[in-house]
Amino acid sequence: MPRFPEPTEGDTKWFVQDRFGLFIHWGLYAMLARHEWVKHTERIHDDDYQKYFDRFDPDLYDPAVWAREAKNAGMKYFVVTTKHHEGFCMWDSALTDYKAPSTPCGKDLIEPMVEAFRAEGLKAGFYHSLIDWHHPDFPVDGLHSMRDNVEYREAHKGRDVRKYARYLHGQTRELLTRYGDIRIIWFDFSYSGSDWGWSKGKGKDDWQSESLLKMVRELQPGIIVNDRLEIGGDIKTPEQYQPSGWLEVDGKPVVWEACQTLNGSWGYHRDNLDWKSVDMLVQMLVDTVSKGGNLLLNVGPNARGEFEPKAIDRLRGIGEWMRLHGRSIYGCTASDFTPPPDCRYTQNGNRLYLHLFAWPFRHVHLNGLAGKVAYAQLLNDASEIRMFTVDPHQQAQNTAMGGISADTLTLELPIQKPPATVPVVELFLKG
Ligand code: GLC
Repeated sequence: MPRFPEPTEGDTKWFVQDRFGLFIHWGLYAMLARHEWVKHTERIHDDDYQKYFDRFDPDLYDPAVWAREAKNAGMKYFVVTTKHHEGFCMWDSALTDYKAPSTPCGKDLIEPMVEAFRAEGLKAGFYHSLIDWHHPDFPVDGLHSMRDNVEYREAHKGRDVRKYARYLHGQTRELLTRYGDIRIIWFDFSYSGSDWGWSKGKGKDDWQSESLLKMVRELQPGIIVNDRLEIGGDIKTPEQYQPSGWLEVDGKPVVWEACQTLNGSWGYHRDNLDWKSVDMLVQMLVDTVSKGGNLLLNVGPNARGEFEPKAIDRLRGIGEWMRLHGRSIYGCTASDFTPPPDCRYTQNGNRLYLHLFAWPFRHVHLNGLAGKVAYAQLLNDASEIRMFTVDPHQQAQNTAMGGISADTLTLELPIQKPPATVPVVELFLKG
């Protein structure tokens, strides 16, 4: 059986069952529509960023629509940006006016979202930026949007990160006391290793991570905390890459979640052309679970409050596949068997799922499975897949295959690839 990670303080039991969640990156940056880091990349001064705040008005926002799309895609939880690095708050914080209720939008955006997703059966999680390029107490450093403005740097030299930490802790308290059961807090991110000469990066001492984490666990027992506070956490969060195998820390497998975008940008990016196909996204989900992980797939809603058509296409395409193949994802994990080329295994007890990323001609050979499979079927339509073993002494000739090892089980596949992005064969293991 596959190895399982040792339990941590947060409750990850539901998490490793659910396997698939929706990430939502939404903030003022949706209006600029060119990546959520735009304030940093274009070195935009607060005075120039103000015009977005003054006009933020997502009039078509209907979280019930988002929640329905997420549910239909097969997602079981969601994580939304309560605040990103730009510092804009999506809820009605008592600690700042830099928030959605103070814009033309005029309301807390988080509360109805949490309610709508819960109504569809999805669990709620919050992404919260540790970094803040708007707060007056956040010391200007080499990542800050004002990093190259020497005059600004001089004028704001005396900033005290301890004051900012109080704000960070206070806002975290608000988020974890006002919206009921929050299952995940996704802090982002620490960079104490960075040194720009005139400034250093920030990390656990700046955020006061120990006491922050303590408060988080007190307010929401069982909550899952990610790994970006610089003091461990319950899950590892590889970003924009697929790990080569089950993620390990000090040689031990850990609970992990890959976070991925639809097009390379987390925030709404109007002119982006890097859209992943449904095929690629389904393969990424399968690949993740085959390595014992979860997938948190992002949508960046636009500034009117909608998922753009390309995002909806992707979600629906994944959903079509998930409707028939969810059994090979939910509750599944890595298998000890080694799959053939272009394939991935996931396993749930005695059910082994063979995912074929490329459809071969007639046969696929499964090493190590001879004598171990009681029944095999295609998952999309529950049609039997016949199987056989070949005498290991048999030479390959004319119409007879040979040179196949004794422990190999061969499946006989239809010529036509089944109508599924990634076809799956469900193998019922004996005993
Ligand atoms: C990052 C980025 C960011 C994004 C995120 C998601 O480190 O700063 O913009 O929100 O991680 O994983």
